[in-house]
Amino acid sequence: MAIIETKKLTRTFGSSIAVNALDMSIEVGEAFALLGPNGAGKTTAIKMLTTLLPVSSGEAFICGFSITTQPKNVRRVIGYVPQMLSVDGTLTGMENLLLFARLYDIPSKECKPRVLDSLAFMGLSDAAKKPVREYSGGMIRRLEIAQSMLHHPAVLFLDEPTVGLDPIACKTVWDHILQLKKEYHTTILMTTHLMDEADHLCNRVAFMSRGTLVASGTPQELKDSIQKPGSTLEDAFIHYTSETLSEGNNFSAISRERKTAERSG
Ligand SMILES: Nc1ncnc2c1ncn2[C@@H]1O[C@H](COP(=O)(O)OP(=O)(O)O)[C@@H](O)[C@H]1O
Ligand SMILES: [Mg+2]
Repeated sequence: MAIIETKKLTRTFGSSIAVNALDMSIEVGEAFALLGPNGAGKTTAIKMLTTLLPVSSGEAFICGFSITTQPKNVRRVIGYVPQMLSVDGTLTGMENLLLFARLYDIPSKECKPRVLDSLAFMGLSDAAKKPVREYSGGMIRRLEIAQSMLHHPAVLFLDEPTVGLDPIACKTVWDHILQLKKEYHTTILMTTHLMDEADHLCNRVAFMSRGTLVASGTPQELKDSIQKPGSTLEDAFIHYTSETLSEGNNFSAISRERKTAERSG
């Protein structure tokens, strides 16, 4: 059974179509990447799936629950790490997580052990009592992932999990995402514009361009499909999205991206 299923999922803003009739089906335990340039519609798709943004038309189901008619059920089974900063810099890592444990209705007796477990799992035990403003970008990202998995969600949404991080911080975030998949069998839907990140973390990827899903498959299938010896996922991406690539990278998209990078970096 598909744990995430979208049916012609669509979102418009005025006359522009941010997500255009998206059809996707993701199985339990998969790690799936939505890949696309800035402005492709990745964040908008995730916001609809996490019930934070109403759909314009179409439908989606998470663990069999409708995002349009059963949003409360959906929220109980998902975790979400947004593209923007989602932790409070003035609180310690531990305090941030305790706050969220209460938000997720975790029974009060279980809060502390659950928080300590999550911190340990993300490699943050030593930093638990430091204010988050003293954390590095990679540590903040790991804290945000710890926060999103406190209630042991079946599905985790990660929106550009390594944006603005240096290669070493990226690697530790990647390692922890892979460990999460292995130990908790969490189904992961992530977005990125880094082809090597998707290739490394995900068993299946989809290319999005201007709101439309243009190709999907395993990284190997997509590389093979362009019939160019030794091609990379990046070659496949350029092949499928080249007509639209430069137009997605407009000034407002880039300035938004930079701001996010600064905040998390
Ligand atoms: N709240 C909003 N109001 C108007 N337009 C928006 C809004 N959010 C996103 N968009 C537009 O929708 C398109 C897709 O944006 P987004 O989903 O953020 O793309 P991505 O995450 O792939 O960079 C862009 O053209 C963007 O400008
Ligand atoms: Mg985005």
